[in-house]
Amino acid sequence: MLFGGTGDLSRKKLLPALYYLFCENRLPRKARLIGAARSEPEEGFKQFVQAAIEEGVESEFLEAGTVAAFLSTVRFAPISVGEPGGMAALAELLNEDSERRCAFYLATPPSLYTPLVEALAGAGLTGPRATLALEKPIGKNLESAVAINTALAEHFPESRTFRVDHYLGKATVQNLLALRFGNSILEPIWRAPFIRHVQITVAEEAGVEGRQGYYDGVGALRDMVQNHIMQLVCLVAMEPPVRLSGESVRDEKLKVVRALRPITGPAVMTETVRGQYAEGAVGGKPVPAYGDSGSADTETYVAVAAEVNNWRWERTPFFLRTGKRMGSRDTEIVIQFGALPHLVFREQDASKLQPNRLTIRLQPEENIELVLMGSRAGIGMEHMELAPLSLSLSRMGGKPPRRRIAYERLFTDWLNGDQTLFVGREEVEESWRWIDGILAGWAEQGLKPAPYAAGGWGPAEADKMLEDYDAAWRNPGQSE
Ligand code: NDP
Ligand code: BG6
Repeated sequence: MLFGGTGDLSRKKLLPALYYLFCENRLPRKARLIGAARSEPEEGFKQFVQAAIEEGVESEFLEAGTVAAFLSTVRFAPISVGEPGGMAALAELLNEDSERRCAFYLATPPSLYTPLVEALAGAGLTGPRATLALEKPIGKNLESAVAINTALAEHFPESRTFRVDHYLGKATVQNLLALRFGNSILEPIWRAPFIRHVQITVAEEAGVEGRQGYYDGVGALRDMVQNHIMQLVCLVAMEPPVRLSGESVRDEKLKVVRALRPITGPAVMTETVRGQYAEGAVGGKPVPAYGDSGSADTETYVAVAAEVNNWRWERTPFFLRTGKRMGSRDTEIVIQFGALPHLVFREQDASKLQPNRLTIRLQPEENIELVLMGSRAGIGMEHMELAPLSLSLSRMGGKPPRRRIAYERLFTDWLNGDQTLFVGREEVEESWRWIDGILAGWAEQGLKPAPYAAGGWGPAEADKMLEDYDAAWRNPGQSE
């Protein structure tokens, strides 16, 4: 049951993901899909679903019979949250079969989560056979997140609540877990002082793409750092969980969020940078400034120098940044290892040495790459000819598998009741606590977004921030 079934997210991601699962027989055999919204699209919901899958699914999967079979499972329920009536009709429809399991996915504005769940409860639809999945963001600060979580908990226990962060469904994120916890050689060096710093970049070429109503006044810190980037920090920094289960993984992630050094008051001036794109060009096309249509006080870029204050990571900065209208669409985690303790090479060769680097790339392609130093020496060369050699740890030959939509993994795990890749209540709340500190610091210090040219790599202030740590951002495509 997809609340917000006619929305942007449903059209772009959720419906195509469900269709792929249907094609692969990964949905329960007798499953049906009910989309709900206040009004049915003019062309009808089935046509809306068909258009969404034709747009979002690779053509080789669009065999007419399969599309028709999928559409035969689809229904629409007109429900206006906050108004009586619709939910009772839905209850009648769903209760026709008391053995049926109900999986409710909330892809509506978050302000509807509480009234929606209360309405489900009022219609008797929150019993033990029902589970709930809901989109980010949960609230817009700690207080609102606690209010939503408290209201949900009255009707759905934590074991039946699945808070979605679609970054956890991305294949490379799971590969990161495999890399960290499926190899013994990395663990001893996965810590300070061997790792000098960690960089996480989520750069988008796109702007707010018709979502300005949501984005304006929210900004990059709340939209991306509180959730997606925080999850990436947790997966890089967490201790090995006892097992790969919802409970163990959440426990370890929570400890990371709790260990984040608070950044607030005057510290925001040196450890954070806010930016907003000015006019420029992206992909060769001119782009107007965000401020032409949006608020001057909404950041479309944010950079943070975070620290995880625990034994493993003491004094290892985690540089985080995200921005709209950047030079290219790139999401990557860079693990920068430290310099050599002692140089054995001749001066001429030594100048070519670079510290080792592990890059976990989520976008545009999914890959894990380790840069090691090697030598290109051959007969006749006077020197060692040291050079960085990169070792790709993904896609070792063969045709690459279809790149899945992150929601395919998440839907599958949700329907199987596996919470490993979902976010726990406490993580959400602790993350907001940290974000609220930064927001309060910005307000107190009157920190306004610095301009950066659309199509660039963010404001100069962000480069300066890293210089103060004797570090530099690695921009995608940067040569060695
Ligand atoms: P949209 O505004 O495009 O869609 C909202 C949906 O909710 C529509 O189907 C709308 O239909 C329905 N809706 C709105 N008000 C009501 C109401 N009172 N009663 C019943 N249904 C209602 O939003 P998005 O799809 O962009 O976002 C949905 C959720 O997903 C949000 O929580 C967002 O933060 C999250 N999200 C979105 C992403 C994206 O790329 N779009 C990415 C990650 C998360 P109608 O107006 O007919 O009622
Ligand atoms: C969403 C944000 O959660 O993630 C958007 O609200 C952002 O602003 C999107 O564009 C990025 O997701 P992805 O998977 O395209 O990196």
